[in-house]
Amino acid sequence: MQGKFISFEGPDGAGKTSVMAAIQSELEQQLGTEQVIYTREPGGNHISEQIRQVLFNSENTDMDGRTEALLFAAARRQHIVSEILPGMEAGKVILCDRYVDSSIAYQGAGRHLGEEAIWQMNQFAIDGLLPDLTIYLDVESEIGLKRIAEHRSDQVNRLDKEKLAFHQTVRQSYLRLYEAHPDRIKLIDASQPLDQVVADVKTAIHARFAELF
Ligand code: TYD
Repeated sequence: MQGKFISFEGPDGAGKTSVMAAIQSELEQQLGTEQVIYTREPGGNHISEQIRQVLFNSENTDMDGRTEALLFAAARRQHIVSEILPGMEAGKVILCDRYVDSSIAYQGAGRHLGEEAIWQMNQFAIDGLLPDLTIYLDVESEIGLKRIAEHRSDQVNRLDKEKLAFHQTVRQSYLRLYEAHPDRIKLIDASQPLDQVVADVKTAIHARFAELF
């Protein structure tokens, strides 16, 4: 059986962590824990987690934008080989917290490296592997930033500290990706209460994979 590769995307503060936890728990009840893999980028295995430490070290304020983009892509490559492809071959449902769209939105648009340049550079890393379905949790930047300030002030990372303008640029890029890839990317209104967001995500997953939910 062929696996199912579902990525989750969104600007910071969209509630991705809570939504993914709810979806993972329900899928595990339906399919059994063995059949569901939760994994995140950058990370998911010991090599990519080491790259993550470098990316999010708050002392690395002098990191060059292209270096950052290459490190995200390197972490992604290892993640594909170590987690995603083996999971796909084993027929599992893979819930992936961020994937290549994050690089296009954050590095391509947010850091002004160019969406097309980041897309091209990532081709070498992903070697054609795109998610079967991408859930994009859309939230206005003001709301997203407010949520971060309220709920996660203890764990704000280097990238979270960027200004409102950065977040708005990231969101606009996500909206462009959504418009360009409507078959793969489904937009969910993440400003709604969590229960409703989860319900909408389940509907989108079911529409793509009739056997789920
Ligand atoms: P993380 O702490 O995992 O938070 P979140 O819950 O928002 O996913 O941090 C991930 C951060 O890394 C987030 O700010 C987006 C950023 N990022 C990129 O800039 N480019 C990428 O390719 C990826 C995968 C993440």
